[in-house]
Amino acid sequence: MGTVSDAVHYVFLAAAACFVLGLHLMNHPRTARRGNTVSAGGMAVAIAATVWLVAHQGTITLTGWLVLACGGLVGAALGLYAAREVRMTAMPQLVSLFNAVGGGAAALIAVADLLQTGDPAALGARVSLPAALDIVIGAVTFSGSLVAAGKLQGIVPGAPVVFPGVRLLDVALPVSFVAGTVLLVLAPDSRAALFGLVAVALLFGVTMVLPIGGADMPVVIALLNACTGFAVAMAGFVLDETALIIAGMLVSSSGGILTKLMADAMNRSVAGIVVGGFGTGDGGPAAAGGAAAQVRSVSADDVAIQLAYARKVVLVPGYGLAAAQAQHELGDLAKLLTDHGVDVSYAVHPVAGRMPGHMNVLLAEADVPYTQLKDMDEVNPDFPQADVALVVGANDVTNPIARRPGNAISGMPILDVDKARSVVVIKRSMGHGYAGVDNELYTEPKTGMFFTDAKQGLAELKAAVGEFVT
Ligand code: TAP
Repeated sequence: MGTVSDAVHYVFLAAAACFVLGLHLMNHPRTARRGNTVSAGGMAVAIAATVWLVAHQGTITLTGWLVLACGGLVGAALGLYAAREVRMTAMPQLVSLFNAVGGGAAALIAVADLLQTGDPAALGARVSLPAALDIVIGAVTFSGSLVAAGKLQGIVPGAPVVFPGVRLLDVALPVSFVAGTVLLVLAPDSRAALFGLVAVALLFGVTMVLPIGGADMPVVIALLNACTGFAVAMAGFVLDETALIIAGMLVSSSGGILTKLMADAMNRSVAGIVVGGFGTGDGGPAAAGGAAAQVRSVSADDVAIQLAYARKVVLVPGYGLAAAQAQHELGDLAKLLTDHGVDVSYAVHPVAGRMPGHMNVLLAEADVPYTQLKDMDEVNPDFPQADVALVVGANDVTNPIARRPGNAISGMPILDVDKARSVVVIKRSMGHGYAGVDNELYTEPKTGMFFTDAKQGLAELKAAVGEFVT
C-alpha cells in the first residue's frame, strides 16, 4: 500500500509540473495549444493516479464505482460538447458556468465530508477550517457565477440590478458567514451551522453579482475563477489530496493575477468593480447626434485605393470583429496586402473584445502569422509611420478621450490610432462601445468611417483591393 501511495505522490508531482509548464506555454499564442494539451495531460494522469489509489485502498463499493464512472462520462461528454460547440463570443458565459460547477463541486466535497464523518465533533481545525472556507467560497462562487453567466447570456438583466437594502445585505451576509465559519470550525457537528453557512454563502453570491454592470462581468468572472481555485485547494486540504491543493492554488493565483491585469487595463480597481461598475454592456446608439453629422463616410473603393497604395498598414481588431466573426476575412485581406508588398501588422490591445486574449484567439483561428501580431506597447510607436490604420469593430481601445481626465475611460491605456497618417474605421453606426462614451477619433478630419458589418465590409474591401493589385 505504502509503495502505491508513494508512487501516486510522485505522479501528482509530475502532474503539478505539467500544470506549471502548461501555464507557461499559454503565455504565447504560438505555444498556447501545446500548453493546453500539457495541462490537460497532467490532469488526466492525476485523475488516473487517484483512481488507482482508490482501487488499491479498496474502500469504494460497486455503487461508488458506478457513480464515479457515470459522473466522469457525463461530465466529459458535456464538457467536450460545450467546448466544441460554443461560439467564441459566448466563451465568457461558458467559463462562468465552468466556474460555477468547480465552485459548487468543491463546496459539496466539504459538505459531504462533514456529513459522512463518523464523529465530526472530533475533527480538528486542520480539517474543519478548510472545510468551512471551502463551503463559503465554493457556494459564493457557484451562485455568483450562475448570475454572471445569466447576465452575459441576457437571461438576467445586464444592467446593475439594485434593490432597496442590497448594500445592507452585502455587509450583513459576509458578517453572518464569518460568524457561521467560526461556529462551524468550533462545532463541526452542528447541522444548523453547516446548512446556515451554505444558505448565506449562496445568497451572498447572488447579491454580490446582481448590482455589477454586465460590462464589468469579465473581470468578475476572472475573480470568481480565482475563488473557484481557492475553494478547490481547500477541498484538497479536506481530502488530503495534494493534486487538488496544487491545481487549486495555481488556478487561484493565476486567476487573481488575471483579475488585476484586466482591471488595470481598464483603469479600474477590483474593489471598485465589485462595489459597482460603469457601463451597461454593449453600446447603443451614440447620444451625440451632432457627431454623426461631422463624420466623413467612405466606401469600399475609397478604402481599397488607400490600402493598395500604402506602404505600412496597421490593422486594429476589436469586439465588433468578434461579434461579426470576421477574423477570416481580416486575415484574407491582410494576406492580399502582404503579398502585394505592404508591411502589415495587427495591433492587439490587452482588453480589446470581451475576454482576456480575445483577439489573439480569434486571429490564431484565422491562421494569422504570429510575427504580424503586436501588443500595445510594441505597436504604439509604429502608428506615426503607418499610412493607414484600419480599425475593425474596435472603439474604446482607440478613443483619444482616454488621455483626458473626467470620463469613463480616463487613464485607460489606448492604441495610438489617431497618430497614423490616415484612419479608416469599420463599424455599423455611430453606436458606442462597452464604456458607453463618444469616440473623438471618428470626428477627426483624417478619419474615414466605413459604416457596415465587419464581415461584409472586409469581404467588399478584399474584392476591391483585389481589383487594384491584380
Ligand atoms: P468596444 O469599445 O466594445 O466597441 C465595439 C464596437 O464594435 C462597437 O462600437 C460596435 O459599433 C462595433 N460592432 C459591433 N458589432 C459589429 C459588427 N457586426 N460589425 C462591425 N462593428 C461592430 O470594443 P473594443 O474597442 O474592443 O473595446 C473593448 C471594451 O470592452 C473596452 O472598453 C474594455 O475595457 C471592455 N472590456 C474588455 C474586457 C476584456 S478582458 N477584453 C473585459 C471587460 C471589458 P456599432 O454598433 O456601431 O457597429
